[in-house]
Amino acid sequence: MDHFDLRDGVLHAEDVPLSLIAEEVGTPVYVYSTATIERHVHVFREALAGVADPWIAFAVKANPNRAVLATLARLGLGADVVSGGELLRARAAGLAAEKIVFSGVGKTADEMALALREGIGQFNLESEPEAEMLSAVATSLGVTAPVAFRINPNVDAGTHAKISTGKSEDKFGVAYDRALAAYELARNLPGLRVQGVAVHIGSQLTDLAPSRAAFEKVGLLIAELRANGHEITTADLGGGLGVPYDPSLPLPPSPAAYGEMVRDVTAGWNVRLVFEPGRVIVGNAGILLSRVVRVKQGSADPFVIVDAAMNDLLRPSLYDAWHHIRAVVPRGPSFTANIVGPICESGDTFAKKRPMDQVEPGDLVAFMTAGAYGATMANTYNSRPLTPEVMVSETNWAIVRNRQPIEMLIAADDLPPWLDEEAA
Ligand code: LLP
Repeated sequence: MDHFDLRDGVLHAEDVPLSLIAEEVGTPVYVYSTATIERHVHVFREALAGVADPWIAFAVKANPNRAVLATLARLGLGADVVSGGELLRARAAGLAAEKIVFSGVGKTADEMALALREGIGQFNLESEPEAEMLSAVATSLGVTAPVAFRINPNVDAGTHAKISTGKSEDKFGVAYDRALAAYELARNLPGLRVQGVAVHIGSQLTDLAPSRAAFEKVGLLIAELRANGHEITTADLGGGLGVPYDPSLPLPPSPAAYGEMVRDVTAGWNVRLVFEPGRVIVGNAGILLSRVVRVKQGSADPFVIVDAAMNDLLRPSLYDAWHHIRAVVPRGPSFTANIVGPICESGDTFAKKRPMDQVEPGDLVAFMTAGAYGATMANTYNSRPLTPEVMVSETNWAIVRNRQPIEMLIAADDLPPWLDEEAA
């Protein structure tokens, strides 16, 4: 459920007409709904009722805007970060260090030192050499790092190959059959304090069975580790719960169904459960607002050329992802169209042969469910400055990231002395 609804014939974000935001800020622009974010946090928490003191660490990569993170910090969430940059952004938004988990296969020594100085709650280690490096960094700083190993359970998450992470051929985690040895190694590393087990098998999961299979393996491992004398106090079940994108498809499992499965599998584990939801918290809370530049005749269906492009919302061209496209002021009839951006490659296509609200040049369209992995994956290809972001709360709205002026892009490059006429 979201808070983007038609009122008096105009699509609104909460109580604010999207046409007003387009007038004032220009397009393309991302628009986030505070009420939707709050609702999703509430629904996720409710779904985990009965789980003692769940540690909900929002996957910052899904949407690292400081206003979004500050909204989540107010609601008491923690963060799952995967870089020093994400860690600093989370801290700048007021997220408590002890509620931060650090994931990722390539943490550098500098990033480890930063996280240790900040005092984060857990490092999810993805390999034995990483454990050795973290121990050395922690020892040099005179501290001990709280760690879990991320286990690769070798289950097929059944999602898009590019966002599937739990098969043995994927780069993530320590193979399940090497796990006991990895924990044995960690036990003898002076800079580490082993506290948990972690798993994350992929994103946009629309079936609970693979997650259940992965969690069952985590349960078995916890028992074996305890039998070997390890003290295990946390189990991080990762993120991945899918959200509805295409209204014509069956709904993905609800947070309530996910919570029920979690309670069932983890009964008796006697650990603090950690969750790393990203998409399910912010996915439906954001849209990308864009204006139709022109409509061009195609060989079959027309091309609707909008002012947003693959650099602003990469998911359709990268994963063939489906985003619902709505007219902000629907004219009534629908038609079938190809929705494309202005970038010079055919991959800059948002939808092919899409039945949708009829639109004409100058009309506004909204790409729905763009709050997760939207603005965060934007880039400046074709020298298109980064898209601004707006946050709405009831009747209030504010720009939470300004449109990047093209001068910033130009000024970011330097000339070598032999081309710099001013320096000569
Ligand atoms: N934890 C870890 C260790 C992760 O790698 C991820 C996502 C999450 C949690 C959060 O997953 P979520 O709850 O959002 O599914 N750019 C892709 C998605 C990449 C997901 C990467 N990892 C997309 O646009 O679909």
